[in-house]
Amino acid sequence: VSASSYPIRPGTVADLPEIARQDGVQFGYEFRGRALEDVLRILDPERFLIATAGAPGSERVVGVSGEYDLNFSLPGGGNIDMPAVTWVSVAPTHTRRGILRSLLETQLRRYIDEGAAASTLTASQGGIYERFGFGAATQIREMAISTHGARLRREVDATGVWLGTADEARSLLPDVHERWRTQVPGLVRRNAARWDAVIDDPSDSGQRKMFLLHEDGYVVFRPELHKDEGHPDSTLRIIEYATTTPQAHAALWQSMLSMELYAWIETEMAPIDDPIEHLLLDARQVRTRSVADLAWVRPLNIAALLSARSYAVEFEVVWELRDSLLGDARYRIKGGAEGAEVARTDDSADLSSDVSVLGALYLGGHRLQSFLRGGRAEGGDEGLLRRVDRALLADRAPLAGTSF
Ligand SMILES: CC(C)(COP(=O)(O)OP(=O)(O)OC[C@H]1O[C@@H](n2cnc3c(N)ncnc32)[C@H](O)[C@@H]1OP(=O)(O)O)[C@@H](O)C(=O)NCCC(=O)NCCS
Repeated sequence: VSASSYPIRPGTVADLPEIARQDGVQFGYEFRGRALEDVLRILDPERFLIATAGAPGSERVVGVSGEYDLNFSLPGGGNIDMPAVTWVSVAPTHTRRGILRSLLETQLRRYIDEGAAASTLTASQGGIYERFGFGAATQIREMAISTHGARLRREVDATGVWLGTADEARSLLPDVHERWRTQVPGLVRRNAARWDAVIDDPSDSGQRKMFLLHEDGYVVFRPELHKDEGHPDSTLRIIEYATTTPQAHAALWQSMLSMELYAWIETEMAPIDDPIEHLLLDARQVRTRSVADLAWVRPLNIAALLSARSYAVEFEVVWELRDSLLGDARYRIKGGAEGAEVARTDDSADLSSDVSVLGALYLGGHRLQSFLRGGRAEGGDEGLLRRVDRALLADRAPLAGTSF
């Protein structure tokens, strides 16, 4: 059965319960009570594509794919809009018949028509999206710090930190976060509904969220209480933390480490280049449990995309991008601190790769050299390629601190 047997139509608000049920089955969750209405604050069902099976009138939903409008920070302090593909699922009865392919290709073509520079998504599995031109661009690390073993190299003045209320957090966090976005690429701008999700407690959660605040940073955390044979063994679970100055970073860590009844400080969303290791006398007290990709980027309009960010050094390269959806093309790219000029060219290529490689490199978190060594990009002029590698790297590791 070909995908054309499953017509695609735009979603409506009336589809929301069925969209939630489809996704819920595949991802293993259920929306109860007000949760579904709350979803409407961040999700527009009319931006969904719905694949259906069966005769009109008795049609069933067999595939869904949605969208968030997101804005990402970029190397150099700028930012860019990228429509994010989200809530993708195909009914368990109808997988591997091309439904995802037809949904996603329809969606990407719509984004091109709408003038998007790129699209983005987070992937449930690593093997699905490269074929559609997406490359994994940001990483997060899961880390745990033993508070009993961790000692700061220097005493830090933590008087700028206070334990705040949710209301104080609501007025401080968005401003710190916007400043943070000018320093760290890959961060998603948050609207009020997304801030509520960071700050509010879901009705079914046990311990309430707490807030350590500083004028240049914050930690949102939740205590997880445990005892180990009568000894305090609780975890301070960081939900999110952001700092815009080294002073705020050190002061917030000093405050967390001084909470002696927590044996562990843990987070799943730390930047891979977080300087916490360097603050400690013994860097091994930071245990990195995993490093995972988060945001994937799919280039759509190469000139618009490449001109939006800045580059560490000046470079000029002809890059051939292989693209099974939009067609292969060569671009002459002249870049530097102010951005890039990009033009189609017939000149021979200095560098060639699948378009997903550009997606992976775009936010500055990976090395072109590594893609060359791994066989996902090819080129001859080593000096030139070294320069392009340097140019693409961002000063800070990109971090999509918001799940989407
Ligand atoms: C992942 C999922 C959406 C795939 O849908 P589908 O309709 O079966 O996918 P298609 O038949 O259109 O497959 C498209 C291509 O992706 C490949 N593919 C599909 N699922 C894959 C997987 N899990 N791993 C690797 N490749 C996969 C297919 O082989 C096919 O390749 P080809 O077109 O190059 O030959 C579906 O299995 C699903 O709903 N899974 C659970 C929810 C989920 O993971 N959603 C993704 C959220 S990010």
